[in-house]
Amino acid sequence: ADGDAADGEKDFKKCKSCHAITDPDGEDIVKGGKTGPNLWGVIGRQAGTEPEFEGKYGDSLVAAGEAGLVWTEELLTEYSHDPKAFLADYLDDDKAKSKMTFKLKDSEDVAAYLATFGDG
Ligand code: HEM
Repeated sequence: ADGDAADGEKDFKKCKSCHAITDPDGEDIVKGGKTGPNLWGVIGRQAGTEPEFEGKYGDSLVAAGEAGLVWTEELLTEYSHDPKAFLADYLDDDKAKSKMTFKLKDSEDVAAYLATFGDG
């Protein structure tokens, strides 16, 4: 992917109101809000499956994961541009809903940054 992880670290400031990056030992790499799931290891993870966030995900995101959506840098970038439109497209369902309403136009750097945490 084409993202720059160092720039992505700065851009992640826009995400941390709702997302923390917490490693498997429980250590906060980035302290963040709990409105959204922990994004440690998100690249390579099936969508809608962060264990601590189970039960809080929206149905559409869970359905996308069950249909085979696994986050790559490219897909995470597309999702962040417009989560609802992404899910509608992925599920081929105009009524798809997203609990994440935030949109970030240029998010490939954030995707590259997130790829540095976890085994994905
Ligand atoms: C879900 C990334 C900003 C709230 C997600 C997911 C990703 C993501 C990849 C899916 C995670 C998974 O499948 O486990 C980002 C990035 C952001 C950002 C890169 C910044 C560019 C925000 C903000 C909010 C937010 C600012 C709150 C206002 C949520 C919520 C979900 C979510 C509630 C669950 C969505 C659902 O279940 O439909 N985010 N996010 N995010 N995010 Fe964000």
